[in-house]
Amino acid sequence: MDVDVDGFLKVSYKSRNSKNRTGRITQTKCDIKTNTSLSLSLDKEYFLKKICEAKSEVLSSDLFKSVCTSLKEGLFILNDSAIAEIVCLGLGRIGECVTSRYQFAFILCLKTLFDVTISAYDPIFTKNDIELLGYFNVTVLKENLEGKHKTLGENKVLFFLPHCPKQLTNNLLWVNWSHNLSSCIIIANSFNKIVGNCSRRTLEQSAGYISKILPYVLEYPIINNFKYHDIFNDLAIHVFPKLNVVSQDLWKINSEPKYIEDIEFITKNDSKSPV
Ligand SMILES: C[S@@+](CC[C@H](N)C(=O)[O-])C[C@H]1O[C@@H](n2cnc3c(N)ncnc32)[C@H](O)[C@@H]1O
Repeated sequence: MDVDVDGFLKVSYKSRNSKNRTGRITQTKCDIKTNTSLSLSLDKEYFLKKICEAKSEVLSSDLFKSVCTSLKEGLFILNDSAIAEIVCLGLGRIGECVTSRYQFAFILCLKTLFDVTISAYDPIFTKNDIELLGYFNVTVLKENLEGKHKTLGENKVLFFLPHCPKQLTNNLLWVNWSHNLSSCIIIANSFNKIVGNCSRRTLEQSAGYISKILPYVLEYPIINNFKYHDIFNDLAIHVFPKLNVVSQDLWKINSEPKYIEDIEFITKNDSKSPV
C-alpha cells in the first residue's frame, strides 16, 4: 500500500495468478501520510479502504455540513475559532463494526477540518483496531481513565463519546467540574434526552453531573439525516458558554461519583489489554 503524491491512498490487491493490480480510492484523501512504509496484511488493507470510503461519504453528507455549522457557531459563542485536540472514547471496534467505522470516519473529517491531533481509548479495541488507528496517526491511549480526562488551559478540546455509557460522560463533567468546562466541547448522547428519558433514580446513580449542568448547557442536536439511521442518532454537540451565571455553590457539590456495577461501563479494574 502507498499514498499518491496528491495524498490519495493506493491499495494493491493480489490477484489469484499473483499479478498485482492497483486500485485507487479517488473520492477521499486519507490522513495516512506517515507510517506507510509499514506493511499491511490484505484484510487491514480492506478495512483501510472501507474507512476511506466511509470518510468520503461522511464528508459529502448533509449531516456533516450541519455539524460543521453548529460547531463553528458554538465556537463563536465561546469566543474561539479553533479546536486544539480531539479525544474519542468508546468508538468501539472500528475494524469490524460498521457503526464504529462511520463514527471514526466522522472524526477523521473533523480532524481534516480543524487540523488537530486525535487520541482515542476504548477498552475493547483489538490489536487490529489499534493498528488501523495508528495508520491514521491517532494516538491510542493506554490507560482507562473512566472518562476522567481533565482539560488543561483555555484551548478547546472536543470530546467524542458516541452512544457511550452515561457514567463516562458524567465522569468527564465531574473531573472538569469548574470553569474548566468552558474548554470542553462534548459530542455525546443528548443531555436533554438523557435527563428527559431516565428515571430520577438512574440519574442520581449514573448521571448526577449531567443533570446538574443541564441548565447551563447549550445543546446543538445532530440532525440524524445520514443514510444509516443508527450511527449518529441521539447525539448532540454540547458547549458551556453560560458558566459565569453558575452559582459557586454548584461547583462545591463535587464529590467523586461512585457507580453500581454496569456491564456497559468498563472500569479500570475490568479493563484488560487489547485482544
Ligand atoms: C454502546 S457502545 C457504543 C459503541 C459505538 N460507539 C456505537 O455507537 O455503536 C459503548 C462503548 O463504550 C465503551 N466503553 C465502556 N467503558 C469505557 C471506558 N471506561 N472508556 C472508554 N470506552 C468505554 C465500550 O467498550 C463500547 O465500545
